[in-house]
Amino acid sequence: MDQYIDFSQPSLYIAAGSIIFNPTFWNTAARTEYHHKTLTKLAGGNALYGCYGLALTIFTLGLIRDALYERALRSQPTHPLLLTFLSQSLAAVLVICGNILVLSSMWALGITGTYLGDYFGILMDEMVTGFPFNVTDAPMYYGSTMSFLGTALWFGKPVGVVLTGLVFVVYKVALSFEDPFTAGIYAKREREEKAKGKRGL
Ligand SMILES: *[C@@H]1O[C@H](CO)[C@@H](O)[C@H](O)[C@H]1NC(C)=O
Repeated sequence: MDQYIDFSQPSLYIAAGSIIFNPTFWNTAARTEYHHKTLTKLAGGNALYGCYGLALTIFTLGLIRDALYERALRSQPTHPLLLTFLSQSLAAVLVICGNILVLSSMWALGITGTYLGDYFGILMDEMVTGFPFNVTDAPMYYGSTMSFLGTALWFGKPVGVVLTGLVFVVYKVALSFEDPFTAGIYAKREREEKAKGKRGL
């Protein structure tokens, strides 16, 4: 095992910690906002600015995590099988497709839609069903996971494949928290709109 992964490198644990920390942070922040309007208050009572602040924080944390991941990869053993033409081609395809999923999702959702605006009361007018949401229900998460795997193969690092597994699990857990919660937020709006409609009659 030692020839594939060097467990004595602290950078490995720092990268793993950062991978776990990020979704934990934004879920905690978003829920705190939903229940206590904490970020809106921090932004002087402006929900939109609060959401932009969270967006900037999440984006920055993402850049830091990516840098820590790359640093961890660089200090790990390389496997020749991952440096073959096939593996390198797969790496390129994964990174390109992953980025297409992430960027097109951000394009379709906008900043507030991408960065948990629902928790701030900034709801989407309607559900986005076109690309990339007709390919996968969580293009940000799956696109990001693909980029992690692609980067691991690109550098030829077995440890990257393991860390990608961790990314996948962490995102799955995040989705299991986020999906029912956002569904609840939109169901609540629907109930409220129905109630309003009835009063209007
Ligand atoms: C997804 O929607 C786009 C248009 O937004 C369309 O071009 C594409 O063929 C669709 N893909 C699938 C798999 O349905």
